[in-house]
Amino acid sequence: MARHILPQPGLGTYRLKEQAVIDSVTSALELGYRHLDSARMYENERAVGKAIRQSGIARDELFVTTKIWWNELEPKALTAAVEESLDNFGLEQLDLVLIHWPSPGGEVAMADYIGALDAVRARGLTRHIGVSNFTIAQIDEALTLPGGENIVTNQIEVHPFLANRKLVEHCQAKGLDVTAYMPLAVGKVLEEPVLKRIAETHGATPAQIALAWIAARDIVVIPSSTKPANQKSNLEALDIHLSEAEMAEIDRLDRGDRQANPSFAPRWDE
Ligand SMILES: NC(=O)c1ccc[n+]([C@@H]2O[C@H](COP(=O)([O-])OP(=O)(O)OC[C@H]3O[C@@H](n4cnc5c(N)ncnc54)[C@H](OP(=O)(O)O)[C@@H]3O)[C@@H](O)[C@H]2O)c1
Repeated sequence: MARHILPQPGLGTYRLKEQAVIDSVTSALELGYRHLDSARMYENERAVGKAIRQSGIARDELFVTTKIWWNELEPKALTAAVEESLDNFGLEQLDLVLIHWPSPGGEVAMADYIGALDAVRARGLTRHIGVSNFTIAQIDEALTLPGGENIVTNQIEVHPFLANRKLVEHCQAKGLDVTAYMPLAVGKVLEEPVLKRIAETHGATPAQIALAWIAARDIVVIPSSTKPANQKSNLEALDIHLSEAEMAEIDRLDRGDRQANPSFAPRWDE
């Protein structure tokens, strides 16, 4: 399997704030997670930073991501946002800063925000830069812009009900890591009969089978959980090996079922 820049797996933190995110990050770090996925929109950067400090884990063992919301894409606003996020986390450098969504309707020119993002990287405020929710055309545009050559990932929705095959393969062919958000379809995978049956064969759970299927496609997963037992089980999912027949069976569950489709989303690839 190819080496990723992003550690496999990461811990998602969407919807978790204050003590809930401190508890989730604390138990995940104890279990061995080293990659934390936050965002300015989640309003949990301060709490994630507190959990990191309390863990006592050396900074260079951790991989911390945040994302810039679409109302902060103008170069000055983006620069100020990254500086504020560093202050929120209490860190001197982030590992990855992502553009959370492409500018709705192209209101801010992509060259402006990719250039500004790469400028904060060049200043050492983040080790890496990347994008999220970019389509094939938007990835192609971003990669040709000044600074775009430093993009390391496209974080997109991927789970058994949304294989997102064309976009995944396009990003991988361009040498990018693909990061799968909502890898459990926010819990929808748990009751799926095919996943349940395959899970029984492996003495596993449907959630683990969904994660194993994504990871086998060379994609980094970032499931979130408030429960240490689920976090542990999600880590262990990465040791499950699915047969070609099982992979193909799960491939057939694809039904283009998107969980994240806000009004400001780009026109998705089919
Ligand atoms: N870039 C973007 O636009 C974007 C959009 C959405 C999400 N994200 C990122 O992706 C991360 C993951 O997405 P998500 O949190 O929305 O959804 P998810 O990871 O697909 O699902 C999380 C849900 O699954 C449950 N769960 C987790 N592990 C489980 C297990 N082993 N067994 C049973 N249930 C389990 C959790 O409940 P419990 O707490 O009870 O375990 C939680 O309700 C987010 O946290 C965020 O960091 C990014």
